Amino acid sequence: MKILNFGSLNIDHVYHVDHFVKPGETIPARSFELFPGGKGLNQSVALAKAGAAVYHAGKLGHDGGMLKEILEKSGVNTDYLESTDEVSGHAIIQVSNTGENSIIIYGGSNRTITGEYVDRVLGDFGPDDMVLMQNEINCIDYIARKCYEKGMKIAFNPSPLDEGLLKTFPFELVTLFLVNEIEGHGLTGKSEPDEILDAFMEKYPDSAVVLTLGSRGAVYRDRHTTYCHGTYEVKVVDTTAAGDTFTGYFLSSLSSGLGIPECLKRASAASSLAVSRKGASSSIPTPVEVDEALKTLKYKEFK
Ligand code: RIB
Repeated sequence: MKILNFGSLNIDHVYHVDHFVKPGETIPARSFELFPGGKGLNQSVALAKAGAAVYHAGKLGHDGGMLKEILEKSGVNTDYLESTDEVSGHAIIQVSNTGENSIIIYGGSNRTITGEYVDRVLGDFGPDDMVLMQNEINCIDYIARKCYEKGMKIAFNPSPLDEGLLKTFPFELVTLFLVNEIEGHGLTGKSEPDEILDAFMEKYPDSAVVLTLGSRGAVYRDRHTTYCHGTYEVKVVDTTAAGDTFTGYFLSSLSSGLGIPECLKRASAASSLAVSRKGASSSIPTPVEVDEALKTLKYKEFK
């Protein structure tokens, strides 16, 4: 199975701060670093590192050389990437002393996707393939409809969730949702994990959902079954791209034929490692590191 990730590519401007800046306040940053990022790019890197055959489609800006480079270095196929005269998408990320983040994104070239480009890319994919999307590029409702017509499986990480997405996206076409608690709440109106999962099954009975719950773990549910998995004990340095790492490892494990419990286990170990490191795509571990973590890190039961 080929995995086509139609997704964003961002240059992340990361500032380490003592606390997140408040309205009207000016604060000094303790450090500044540039990293390749974007939910799309991060998920492609995680997929490729985990061993999947992943093709990234999306639009780079004139300043996007480093983004293409990291994809290629990680083993992502970039044949479908296109460049534009726009500025690349970018993110302004504050990281606090406890590793939490606060992010502003500017879409830039990520928002120059056209129907003609989508049709051209999809010409090479069919019913044996899967498309993955997030909500950081334009045209995702068109991509979802076209992929569904072609019989492709659709994995969707509706992040960041916004009003526009809720109004226009054809959620009923999704094969597998990958959501955190905030997205789960936004899509169902429910707050408790079990209620969120029940509401998903009621609204989208033909879909499966993975709900990630941060340090508590993750739950998979489809109409037949539910599986839960905890996390692994690490010192939290930077939570950026933890969800992207989870998504990439989960889907890669799934596409290689592993059962859901094993997919959850590998994705949880990979994202635990990612939060113990700085940066977005640069924090994503290799499968060897994940194997090692599974042997050495202390497992924390699902709560
Ligand atoms: O999920 C983390 C990503 O969100 C960052 O890399 C940033 O670019 C934003 O898109």
